Amino acid sequence: MRMVDIIEKKRDGLELTREEIEFAIKGYTDGSIPDYQMSALAMAIYFKDMTPSERVHLTMAMVESGDVIDLSSIEGIKVDKHSTGGVGDTTTLILAPLVASVGVPVAKMSGRGLGHTGGTIDKLESIAGFQVEIDNDTFHRLMNANQVAVVGQSGNLTPADKKFYGLRDVTGTVNSIPLIASSIMSKKIASGADAIVLDVKTGSGAFMKNLEDAKELAHAMVQIGNGAGRKTIAVITDMSQPLGYAIGNALEVKEAIDTLNGNGPKDLHELCLTLGSKMVYLAGKAESYDEARKMLEDAIHTGKAIEKFKTFIAAQGGDSTVVDDPTKLPTASYTFEVEAQEDGVVSEIIADKIGVAASLLGAGRITKESQIDLAVGLVLRKKIGDNVKKGESLVTIHSNKQEVIEVKKLIDEAFSVSQNEVERPTLVYEVID
Ligand code: URA
Ligand code: CA
Repeated sequence: MRMVDIIEKKRDGLELTREEIEFAIKGYTDGSIPDYQMSALAMAIYFKDMTPSERVHLTMAMVESGDVIDLSSIEGIKVDKHSTGGVGDTTTLILAPLVASVGVPVAKMSGRGLGHTGGTIDKLESIAGFQVEIDNDTFHRLMNANQVAVVGQSGNLTPADKKFYGLRDVTGTVNSIPLIASSIMSKKIASGADAIVLDVKTGSGAFMKNLEDAKELAHAMVQIGNGAGRKTIAVITDMSQPLGYAIGNALEVKEAIDTLNGNGPKDLHELCLTLGSKMVYLAGKAESYDEARKMLEDAIHTGKAIEKFKTFIAAQGGDSTVVDDPTKLPTASYTFEVEAQEDGVVSEIIADKIGVAASLLGAGRITKESQIDLAVGLVLRKKIGDNVKKGESLVTIHSNKQEVIEVKKLIDEAFSVSQNEVERPTLVYEVID
């Protein structure tokens, strides 16, 4: 087989075979196919698209390029959740114990990554003593005992995707539905999930800025998942403003505790019930989404969910008394309020700008080596559709620096206040199953 023939075939809009796709991915990963040929193929795919079966073959070729996590010794159907990312997305912290509390195993492998705030494991590390570097045996033992554990990512998952994503990044080929969908799905499948719930965000703070693109990506990922034998459901949700109120590591842990206690922000609570009910349904623990939702609501009301969170924290060495006394979480030295300049209704909160403001405070990593400040971040006081009076606080800044001029400026730019009536954004646009 020759790579040039594969490139020409895709350039002419023909369907590649599984063997051809495997040949390209294997060769690219082991270095026998050079960057320039792989770039040409990526660009051909960008313009000519891929058929459903090509997408599945590409995904599986990337899965097979590295380690595949084996979760078969953990009882039950392992359901993973993936979010396409946004600002202040605290859902994993809540969903893991919530869903586990009704008997669905959640074996979470999480990276640290770059972003406006840390990843799930950074957030959990704001709980004193919490260990994410647990060995494989301990991980499996905790899973079978508690149905929930979170471990830092180790091993060599989907090296083909890592290399290919890097190449796409500098060749104008990131923004291709078949390439994005196979990239995301390859990582989920390699992580050992039996079934997958996808939270595809749309809006100013999302990767997919408009609803049509988000729908297309969601359909593509569901098709790949099902084509690869993993039951997959996607939910398209709003990221036109940050989710919940808190953006920051310890601040989000506090928000997760509130939500597990039934006192969380309305949007975050609702999204967790929506995603959680899909997870419970896919795990075969309920006959319908409604029944699953009812189980999760009960778990919150009866305290089962928050108890599971305590068990989970303690099992990984963390101080579970933070749940009853969140003042034990790291706190910033200073707080500042960003005040509204006029009366009206909040009409816009540009999520990206809020995220950048949080990362300027030190809540996220700018480079792989950056140190995160777990205590700092932002707490929104108003969301889109809320009335506001001049001088009222829009956001509380939690900072370890006394100087926050730039942060305040970004927040001012992020918020718009209108004199007209403003509709609250729809939270869940569509479920694709
Ligand atoms: N996120 C991924 O993991 N892969 C892509 O290709 C795009 C976004
Ligand atoms: Ca939040």
